[in-house]
Amino acid sequence: MKTILPSRTSSLSRLNRMLSAKAFDNARFFILVDENTYTHCLPTLITKVQPLQQAEFMEVPVGEDCKDIAIATQLWQTLLESGADRNTVLVNLGGGCITDLGGFVAAGYKRGIRHINIPTSLIGMADAAIGGKTALNLDNSKNQIGFFHQPAIVCIDPQFLDTLPDGEMFNGLFEMLKTFMVGSQQHYQQLCDMILQGTLQISADLLASCAEIKTAIVKQDPHDLGIRRILNLGHTFGHAIEAYSHHDGQSPLAHGFAVGAGLVCALYLSVRKLGLDPAILDRYRAVAAKLFALPHYTLRDTEGILTYMRQDKKNANGDILCVLLQDLSAPVIDLPVAENEIRDALLKLS
Ligand code: GLY
Repeated sequence: MKTILPSRTSSLSRLNRMLSAKAFDNARFFILVDENTYTHCLPTLITKVQPLQQAEFMEVPVGEDCKDIAIATQLWQTLLESGADRNTVLVNLGGGCITDLGGFVAAGYKRGIRHINIPTSLIGMADAAIGGKTALNLDNSKNQIGFFHQPAIVCIDPQFLDTLPDGEMFNGLFEMLKTFMVGSQQHYQQLCDMILQGTLQISADLLASCAEIKTAIVKQDPHDLGIRRILNLGHTFGHAIEAYSHHDGQSPLAHGFAVGAGLVCALYLSVRKLGLDPAILDRYRAVAAKLFALPHYTLRDTEGILTYMRQDKKNANGDILCVLLQDLSAPVIDLPVAENEIRDALLKLS
């Protein structure tokens, strides 16, 4: 996997050079878009990356609904009917849903074709597009079906962030905060300062540092068997909070915000179980509260959230496992957490 990180030279110009090189001789390109990226991002991409000017494109609906086996099957049928062979390259232009779906389609087509991820959301640039996790949802349960299939190239170009509303930027910030919590105290403090002082600017350097940390972790553990699990900080709570938020009567939370709430719970338990400095929890809670209203849960809600936590992919031997922090940059993986501790953390969220 080659990651084109943001720098002074435009990432799309570097992609243009890479796709003009021998490795992509005779490649036939298909571009996967949704309705938003078709309108706001595709014109820039094909103007700046000459080898993609003849690409065919395939469009799917916006959001989680596209991560469905029926849609993946339609895309495979389109590729087959168009005579796409193993030299085909699927270019995924979009946020996390597009790169999850496109990576899945590339992994399955003719036992695997190359794909290129061009994330257009902050959450995609910071996390989802990097690392080769592909996923579809099953029966309303998120990311239950998938393969590890590393992209040939991840091209991170911050110019696509200009097309995003504030809410989408904030959604992505939580995955950045998580990566810096486990991987770089200096960048973590810098990002917290900017959020607290209202001077937030996602510079190319900050984005590049986040992508570099994730890329380095994935290189050590591409199949999520050990160290990569540190990137799940906040996610055992976060996935369950996200799923529960789609229940009747709740306000639906996007993935990043749910992880943002999950990080509060994980830090709360880290203080109690691992002796994390409570000032780290307090500062993070203040940062999260600047970006959205943390949900308030009753005992009844905690039962609903626990139902999802019991189904978490990472559980083992009937235990709910979490990543917690001893300190910034000192995560501990696979810690069993009792259901009463989970209820307590959820009740103290806000
Ligand atoms: N999003 C966490 C990972 O890719 O491992």
